[in-house]
Amino acid sequence: MRIDYSPDSLGAGAFYRLLTAVVVPRPIAWVSTLTADGRTANLAPHSFFTVACTDPPIVQFTSVGRKDSLRNAEETGEFVVNVAPEPLFEQINDTATDFPREEGEFDAVGIEREPSLRVKPPRVAASPVALECRLHATLGLGNSTVVFGRVVHAAVHEDVLVDGHPDVRQLRPLSRLGKNEWGTIGEIRDLARIPYHDRRKG
Ligand SMILES: Cc1cc2nc3c(=O)[nH]c(=O)nc-3n(C[C@H](O)[C@H](O)[C@H](O)COP(=O)(O)O)c2cc1C
Repeated sequence: MRIDYSPDSLGAGAFYRLLTAVVVPRPIAWVSTLTADGRTANLAPHSFFTVACTDPPIVQFTSVGRKDSLRNAEETGEFVVNVAPEPLFEQINDTATDFPREEGEFDAVGIEREPSLRVKPPRVAASPVALECRLHATLGLGNSTVVFGRVVHAAVHEDVLVDGHPDVRQLRPLSRLGKNEWGTIGEIRDLARIPYHDRRKG
């Protein structure tokens, strides 16, 4: 037996909690941006995040409401997606505090930064991967804005490379689950996709 839920009768808040409990696990973009005057470096986790296009490479994150990350990305046309690794668990959560815009999370939380190569917002020094992005487009949807960024540079720490390729066991990415739950990498299984041609042979 299934229990039925309708967005209209449940209401937006409760349906949001249902959606975030079932669309799991979600990767976390730890988004760094700069204010237009270049003075304040902002950092915040966004789990409504994925690859939007492979050629050209475009990633997307969603701002629910108009937050500092969104406003900075719109005003400067740049942002960096830092991978959110397990050892930085509590620091990542600390950057989700609603600090005022003039109080950047890098300084407020004490996160070490390093310069990016192709864009002005800094990278998180301890994050194993940074995707440097130029704003491609934004799409307003109801109470949210989807932010698309063209990846103009990827900086990957050599420690997470195995045979020249980023390895998930080294990256140790965190994920967002429902409520205040977070996930870590569990069992990893390998299974190749089966071409139709091979199925017909059997
Ligand atoms: C793990 C995690 C994931 C989050 N994902 C999102 C998200 O996808 N979109 C969003 O708008 N807020 C998300 N938040 C909340 C923001 O991080 C929070 O509102 C933050 O203060 C926004 O910072 P900013 O105003 O500096 O951009 C998330 C929080 C956590 C802890």
